[in-house]
Amino acid sequence: MIPYQVRPAIPSDAAGYIGLIAAVLREHPSVDTPYAPDEFAPPIARIRDRIIEVSGSANSIFLIAEANRQVIGALTCGGGTLRADAHMTALGVYVAKDWRDRGVGSALMQAALDWAARSPAVERVELEVFAGNTRAIHVYEKFGFEREGVKRGLYKRNGELLDMLIMARLFTKGKA
Ligand SMILES: CC(C)(COP(=O)(O)OP(=O)(O)OC[C@H]1O[C@@H](n2cnc3c(N)ncnc32)[C@H](O)[C@@H]1OP(=O)(O)O)[C@@H](O)C(=O)NCCC(=O)NCCS
Repeated sequence: MIPYQVRPAIPSDAAGYIGLIAAVLREHPSVDTPYAPDEFAPPIARIRDRIIEVSGSANSIFLIAEANRQVIGALTCGGGTLRADAHMTALGVYVAKDWRDRGVGSALMQAALDWAARSPAVERVELEVFAGNTRAIHVYEKFGFEREGVKRGLYKRNGELLDMLIMARLFTKGKA
């Protein structure tokens, strides 16, 4: 198997990250994501700025999985911006089609949860996932995420209303 590594993103990963997500959104059959292909076209500078911003953050992280100098997976955690929710971070993860079911998503999750366990700021990692995305739900449950509820009919695809599952994993940290 081609070796890959998981590491924090650096600014020069921005174009590779956009390419990864754009390719995922163009897949047929479509993957479980709310974005249509033409709804994701961020300027490279915005992603580069986000990578820089996150590298100094206590409650956000931007991880890349890389093989052959290509971005083959990415995981982001975006932390709350208020004092009231700064202990919360929202997770999203994508792996390139050819690399799925080979452990890359799990490696990204492990790295993110190791970071969450270490970071004094993070007490809650949350995510939303399409209720029918059984592979992603399997991975999240493997990493200790629990089902908290369902947003019924949150998104519409080809006229069909789709439910989103809310999941979270809590980390108990010492009180300041
Ligand atoms: C979801 C995703 C990030 C997981 O990454 P991955 O690299 O494929 O995951 P891994 O190879 O580490 O693990 C996949 C696991 O799911 C299992 N699996 C595969 N298909 C499955 C299915 N239909 N139902 C349940 N489990 C399934 C595999 O057996 C494996 O289990 P194991 O870890 O217990 O051996 C990746 O598949 C992906 O990017 N999918 C498309 C985009 C997406 O859905 N993102 C999540 C949005 S919330």
